[in-house]
Amino acid sequence: MGVERTFSLIKPDATKRGITGLINADIEGAGLRIVAQKRILMTRAQAETFYAVHKERPFYGSLVDYMTSGPVVAQVLEGENAVLRYREVMGATNPESALEGTIRKKFAVSVTENSVHGSDSPENAATEIRQFFSENEIVG
Ligand code: CMP
Repeated sequence: MGVERTFSLIKPDATKRGITGLINADIEGAGLRIVAQKRILMTRAQAETFYAVHKERPFYGSLVDYMTSGPVVAQVLEGENAVLRYREVMGATNPESALEGTIRKKFAVSVTENSVHGSDSPENAATEIRQFFSENEIVG
């Protein structure tokens, strides 16, 4: 595996509690470099586009409500095998199943308010990064 990029969102439950620095310390401690970062309030349209793959799921509406309920921090992370590495660092989607030491085990409130998002494949990472960043905002 070479150096690759993944897309990360620090979610409203974490920005509201003021723990974005703690999460960034875990990201950097795992050897992932934060090569782009911005704090934004997503519009409903942005959240609906971002989670379009979940449109038919029963939790879609409440997920969009939650993701627009407060600021998020959008990030591009770079490193060896970054997609898989960040998924290890985040832990399982449901914090009850997440391993000790992972971000979600330490910080997540519930399966919805699970503190962070990370891309599930390099292809989706590229799409997600493009939704939030232009190439000249990503500085390695
Ligand atoms: P994320 O990794 O951002 O991808 C989709 C999100 O949907 C997920 O994190 C959770 O926040 C949310 N999610 C996934 N499964 C459920 C579920 N069963 N109930 C409610 N929310 C969910």
